[in-house]
Amino acid sequence: MKICVLNGSPKGMESVTMQYVRFLELANPGHTFTTENIGQRIAAIEANEEEYKKVIASIDAADAILFATPVYFMLVPAQLKRFIELLFSHNARPSFFNKFAASITTSIHFFDHTANEYLHAIAEDLGMHWAGSFMAGMNDLLGEDCQEQLLRFGEEFFWLAEKKPQLQRTYPPLRPVNREYQSAGIPMPLDCGDKKIVILTDAGPGTNLERMTGRLASLFGRSASIVPLDDLKMKGGCLGCCACAFDNTCVYTDGFCEEWETSVLSADIIILAGTVKDRYFSAEFKQVFDRSFYRGHVPVMTGKTVGILAQGPYSWCSTLREVLHAEIALQGAALAGTVTDEEEISFATDGRIDALALRCLHLAKSGCVPPAGFPVIAGMKIFRDAIWSEMRPFFRADHAYYRAHGLYDFPQNDYSRRIKTTLFGILLAIPQVRTQVRKDMKQNIVRPLQEALKTSRVLRRHADQTRAGRE
Ligand SMILES: Cc1cc2nc3c(=O)[nH]c(=O)nc-3n(C[C@H](O)[C@H](O)[C@H](O)COP(=O)(O)O)c2cc1C
Repeated sequence: MKICVLNGSPKGMESVTMQYVRFLELANPGHTFTTENIGQRIAAIEANEEEYKKVIASIDAADAILFATPVYFMLVPAQLKRFIELLFSHNARPSFFNKFAASITTSIHFFDHTANEYLHAIAEDLGMHWAGSFMAGMNDLLGEDCQEQLLRFGEEFFWLAEKKPQLQRTYPPLRPVNREYQSAGIPMPLDCGDKKIVILTDAGPGTNLERMTGRLASLFGRSASIVPLDDLKMKGGCLGCCACAFDNTCVYTDGFCEEWETSVLSADIIILAGTVKDRYFSAEFKQVFDRSFYRGHVPVMTGKTVGILAQGPYSWCSTLREVLHAEIALQGAALAGTVTDEEEISFATDGRIDALALRCLHLAKSGCVPPAGFPVIAGMKIFRDAIWSEMRPFFRADHAYYRAHGLYDFPQNDYSRRIKTTLFGILLAIPQVRTQVRKDMKQNIVRPLQEALKTSRVLRRHADQTRAGRE
């Protein structure tokens, strides 16, 4: 069987992920593996039609497709994303049709599921059947358990690719958005106070997104600046070299980092105005996120407000939503809302844009950043453990930040809680105590919270302030 490996790593064959592919290759000498280093060669593939055709020829000749890629910002690297866009714009579906596809990703398991969900959905959009994902941790291949499972994963993939059972699609096809949005006049600017707003956009001229962005910018008046992605001066995608880990300095000297800090991170309200291409924002947007990796694994938008404007079938792209919502929360920001151009009537879209502007300003003034739940808590624990256990010799800037901000909050360091928990465990070994505790379980759980309501200084301060405001 012929397998075409689409390698998303900008590091080419020196990639961690490709060692997993090499393992499969060594274990299966009866199958032929052809690797296309998409992530490394995207500039040539995009610029030179012959290079693109060579890749398509490999895909045509293959019986099955294996996506092998690192996870970058919860998805695939921008370079692979760009290649996927080229596949759709060149109508390459016939080259993939009815083949089986699988993915191997390596990462530190931070949102690797979303990267694989994205590839799964894209494979189905290209007319392929999905054989599954192998989501490895970077160094899992060092262990025999992983190697055994990788062997089985390969067997399963080859078996499916050969037998071609007719599997049901998981992701329904996207519904393209064909309606034109027109803003009904230019709205009056709102009172933005001292808030600075930036609208980061990849809107093309004459598009719905450009018109939506224009309306939102008018609402913010002089407090807003529109920053097209081109103004961020990126010369290329993240190379994955991790040289930035030591002191947050990127190897590129194209001016992106300065623009990112001064134009975007300095704002109080950040609007992401993006075009949905396939099932994510454009590769250019993805490249911005990838390049922002130089700031490491620390929140850089603490207390800020973020709004989203989207052109295209945003409401059908669950992975895109999950990724953006989680990323905004992880950066320490609050999401004010999203407006898309999917609504039939422009007037309704106008109303939503106006409401988004109001909500952004209200949130920015109130400073409300509610706890975001599982993705942030789980994500921060993954970062904390990974930085502490292995990455801190290189990711020195992250290590310093985690120490300074008390982010090394391992439960085993909380000695008073540990002592209390141990003593409580001993007490509960006494049958009479256990019977009583079981009986009062509900009250025991809620009592400390009820106490907190009685003694809350915040509530008292708030009541004083409300009273003073009335007088
Ligand atoms: C720009 C960038 C973004 C990353 N984003 C993630 C991420 O979102 N989740 C994760 O678990 N690992 C992330 N990583 C870690 C890589 O996925 C990991 O190092 C991978 O094994 C590299 O594979 P490669 O050598 O094949 O390129 C990121 C690394 C870089 C350089």
